[in-house]
Amino acid sequence: MSDIVRLEELWKIYRLATTTVPALRSVSLTIRQGEYITIMGKSGSGKSTMLNILGCLDRPTHGKYFIGGQDVSALTDNELSDVRNNKIGFVFQSFNLVQQLTILENIEVPLFYQGMPRSSRRERSRHMAELVGLGDRASHRPRELSGGQQQRVAIARALANDPLIILADEPTGNLDSSTTQDILDLFDELHAGGKTIIIVTHEKDVAAHTERIIVLADGLVKSDARNESAGTRL
Ligand SMILES: Nc1ncnc2c1ncn2[C@@H]1O[C@H](COP(=O)(O)OP(=O)(O)OP(=O)(O)O)[C@@H](O)[C@H]1O
Ligand SMILES: [Mg+2]
Repeated sequence: MSDIVRLEELWKIYRLATTTVPALRSVSLTIRQGEYITIMGKSGSGKSTMLNILGCLDRPTHGKYFIGGQDVSALTDNELSDVRNNKIGFVFQSFNLVQQLTILENIEVPLFYQGMPRSSRRERSRHMAELVGLGDRASHRPRELSGGQQQRVAIARALANDPLIILADEPTGNLDSSTTQDILDLFDELHAGGKTIIIVTHEKDVAAHTERIIVLADGLVKSDARNESAGTRL
């Protein structure tokens, strides 16, 4: 398996009016295709900052970021959004669905930005809705769905453009424990299908599913270890 992500001495320093906050301090790591990873750490340790950089929503202050071999640290905003549209799938804690759009239309959003023609978009989004078990809710609006169902729509949307990496920031943070289990089962299936998945979470139960656990503390990698018990539950 090849390296899909390489971070080299990556720094993120937020500059405020009167002070600077070093949110990531020389982080170096490699992620291989198909890995299933959790990023943990206390509040403020740099998890979201790292995920935002991995997802090309933000840029490092110093250091290099390679995604699929391409150096993305120095790209322009437009180039960066191309990378984001084509290579990254995002899942957020609060689902971030568009309330005015139907389930199918929500799943289509990244395909629209990718420039896919309408009929192919429709076909692809229907397929994705079925994949996450919501084929029968295609014409509903997000508010007509439960939290877990909405998160499944968000996952279908994240998968629609067949990204290299799925990034999820606290994807089960707003869900009860049985719905959390449904979402984790879905991530497990995607992992079994070869997807590279990186989840930020506070929850040990979520981390237990993944094969590698990276712990951040004060912007540094505090530990980075295999989770030997992962997979036994599959
Ligand atoms: N836009 C910003 N401007 C200034 N400082 C920021 C900004 N975003 C994050 N920070 C600071 O950077 C550090 C890391 O924040 P980050 O959001 O990455 O933490 P986190 O690990 O995701 O925390 P949480 O678990 O609370 O979500 C914190 O000290 C935070 O205050
Ligand atoms: Mg965060």
